[in-house]
Amino acid sequence: MNEVADQVGTPVYVYSTATLRRHARVIAAAFDGMDCLIAYSVKANGNLAVLKTLASEGCGADVVSGGELKRALAAGIPAERIVFSGVGKTREEMALGLEHGIHQFNVESGAELLALSEVAAGLGKTAPVALRVNPDVAAGGHPNISTGKAGDKFGVPWTDAPGLYEQMKSLPGVKAVGVDVHIGSQIGELEPMRAAFEKTIGLVKTLRESGHDLTRIDLGGGLGIPYQASDNPAPPSDYAAMIHDVTKDLGLQVVLEPGRVIAGNAGVMVTEVLYHKPAPDRTFMIVDAGMNDLMRPALYQAHHDIVPVIEPAGDGNHVEYDIVGPICESTDKFAAKREMPAVEPGERIAFMSSGAYGAVLSSQYNARPLVAEVLVDGDQFAVVRRRPSFEQMIELEQMPDWLT
Ligand code: LLP
Repeated sequence: MNEVADQVGTPVYVYSTATLRRHARVIAAAFDGMDCLIAYSVKANGNLAVLKTLASEGCGADVVSGGELKRALAAGIPAERIVFSGVGKTREEMALGLEHGIHQFNVESGAELLALSEVAAGLGKTAPVALRVNPDVAAGGHPNISTGKAGDKFGVPWTDAPGLYEQMKSLPGVKAVGVDVHIGSQIGELEPMRAAFEKTIGLVKTLRESGHDLTRIDLGGGLGIPYQASDNPAPPSDYAAMIHDVTKDLGLQVVLEPGRVIAGNAGVMVTEVLYHKPAPDRTFMIVDAGMNDLMRPALYQAHHDIVPVIEPAGDGNHVEYDIVGPICESTDKFAAKREMPAVEPGERIAFMSSGAYGAVLSSQYNARPLVAEVLVDGDQFAVVRRRPSFEQMIELEQMPDWLT
């Protein structure tokens, strides 16, 4: 890790090929024997090298924009293994998906359904559709990542679903192929998922009875991961057993959209300690990564374990730090009163479990270059996203005539 940081500089995300592959295989093995499409959720970590690694493990992709769709295709994920989710697809994005012949559109409103039908009919195509339903079940590690409650913007209200499926029968450009549900992220317990899935399967049965030939169910992503020793999320094998139990004997293809569970613990962010600053009641450790590089603590009060890159010999001297970045915002704080081995300026620390929703959420706030990303494979590593130069950072900006 220090060698990577020496060569690439800090802050830097470092991903492990072995862990990405292991996680993809654990998920695949858990669902072995079931008719299942594992559509990795690109939003968790859309780096092309990460996607290509997962493509080589047979993963499909769950995308939420034309950009993610292009990333997945560029990484070699076949269109027929791609599902397109998201509440606000544009007509251009729909056309892109249709032209490539993706597996399925997860549609989130009546208005989107009409637009998709029009776009598809205009292209002489039929869009395979699963309506995303809102099952009104609460779940998820933080209110900001819960998506399945009645007031959330996601999915169509439960009671509207039958009417929309009826409407689909007469729309020229769409064909109902399944039902889709996703209730949130970082869910450690299986009960809320089971409740939402059972409710959704009840809907599939009702729809089949009214003549809809549904062959798929998309159960979204959301399985949680351990961020610290006290976290104890359900293992993929239990999750798969629960899904097998609720979907068995229905002859449905099960589509899954796991993101965090594959990428989260396959990456860390490494940063260098710049200064210590003593305050009356605490010591600040100021590091060269900011909330623009890793947003999760500022956005969701998320916990990341933080460890020195070089573990101190013996028991080491444990101290308490408030670990903060250089950004001019009070929320630019990674941890408060965190006990850890003493680390000195010039030494490096790693934010664990940062492979998902880390680099993808990074920005150039405070005119800081986008954080670099590195992929390790065995004893080799490669930069898979360069840190931009200042010139590259301002490349898209231009002066209006009246200022030149
Ligand atoms: N499918 C849909 C429709 C989603 O909205 C999401 C995540 C996933 C799949 C993948 O969920 P996962 O398996 O990764 O839990 N930025 C937040 C998490 C936002 C999740 C958004 N949707 C965080 O850092 O915790």
